[in-house]
Amino acid sequence: MRYLTLGRTGLRVAELCLGTMTFGEETGFGADRAESLRVYEGYVAAGGNFLDTANMYTGGTSERWLGEFVRGHRERLVLASKYSLTTDGTDPNAGGNGRKALVQSLDASLRRLGTDYLDVYWVHAWDGHTTPDEVLRALDDAVRAGKVLYTGVSNVPAWWTSRAHTLAELRGLTPFAGLQVHYSLVERTVEREIVPMARALGLGLTAWSPLAGGLLTGKYTRGEAGRITTTGWSGMYKSPRVEAIVRGTLAVAERLGRPPAQVALNFLRQRPWPVIPIVGARSRAQLEELLGCLAWELDPESLAELEHISAPELGYPSGMLNSPGMRQFIHGEVADRLGKGAGPRFRGAGKGD
Ligand SMILES: NC(=O)c1ccc[n+]([C@@H]2O[C@H](COP(=O)([O-])OP(=O)(O)OC[C@H]3O[C@@H](n4cnc5c(N)ncnc54)[C@H](OP(=O)(O)O)[C@@H]3O)[C@@H](O)[C@H]2O)c1
Repeated sequence: MRYLTLGRTGLRVAELCLGTMTFGEETGFGADRAESLRVYEGYVAAGGNFLDTANMYTGGTSERWLGEFVRGHRERLVLASKYSLTTDGTDPNAGGNGRKALVQSLDASLRRLGTDYLDVYWVHAWDGHTTPDEVLRALDDAVRAGKVLYTGVSNVPAWWTSRAHTLAELRGLTPFAGLQVHYSLVERTVEREIVPMARALGLGLTAWSPLAGGLLTGKYTRGEAGRITTTGWSGMYKSPRVEAIVRGTLAVAERLGRPPAQVALNFLRQRPWPVIPIVGARSRAQLEELLGCLAWELDPESLAELEHISAPELGYPSGMLNSPGMRQFIHGEVADRLGKGAGPRFRGAGKGD
């Protein structure tokens, strides 16, 4: 395992994060305590130090078990949790981004995890109304109180994040360390606005559901059962486009003689910008297969093929700014002879960046 710094911070995190949404059986697709412990031990034995949980995962079981597993060596680990998704649908402040939700959720997470501080605290999803000012102030207070070391956001529009991050820098509040985004071969729309923002602001990128909930393992194509058929998640990934990407990924994997899951993880790990996949495993055997991605790299031809079959529509304005005609309008005859820093360069332009 190698270690990357999270965004511009000095925090060193493993190149694969372990997601613990599957610690506990409450949601119908997780593991019991003994298997969760085996998954945890396998990850730590491989050198992993970066663990992701949330206040509402498996009704609190994920945090409780993780707290038990890390006892005795907690300082070696980077523990990340989240708030914003409700833990009690009848209580208006049991969810959302407000200060009250944050303070109560954070204290409850610390209690369940049996620790005095979180290394990273994520806003789990934007609630659509709380202002950046309120969230920043409350997060910064948690940092000053020593309960949180670094902060970040997940599932938040780019405009909100960039406004909040800039306000934090201007006001001397804790700026965000990174982002947790839905990112995989079948979900690359994050490359429209969020990835360029992360690069410009120096935010670390972590990717949730890097296997599209298991779809990219090829198990469903092989007729095997798994989470997606049992929880109704299939709707999220049901489209001819997604099916074509999965077929294309399986073809690359077969040609290389590698498990499709490793191909999918290495596609993310080999993006032109650093991405830390947050892997999820229901069993130790699944985890071992995923960890196998660390031992090899995709060759340039396979990368190009995967890039091609999964390329997202960039939409406006990136699509327009990247078009040869628009580049001519902006830069004239020197359009193809400009070096770094000469204007907007977006992925997909075919010009490198
Ligand atoms: N911020 C957010 O909104 C958000 C959202 C979702 C997740 N997350 C985080 O991201 C982590 C990972 O998400 P995810 O679980 O959706 O990731 P994923 O990698 O897309 O899916 C993991 C699932 O794929 C299947 N799988 C994994 N390895 C396999 C293998 N070798 N062979 C066959 N099947 C395999 C297992 O499901 P089955 O065996 O059950 O089929 C496993 O639970 C979570 O634990 C959580 O920490 C964050």
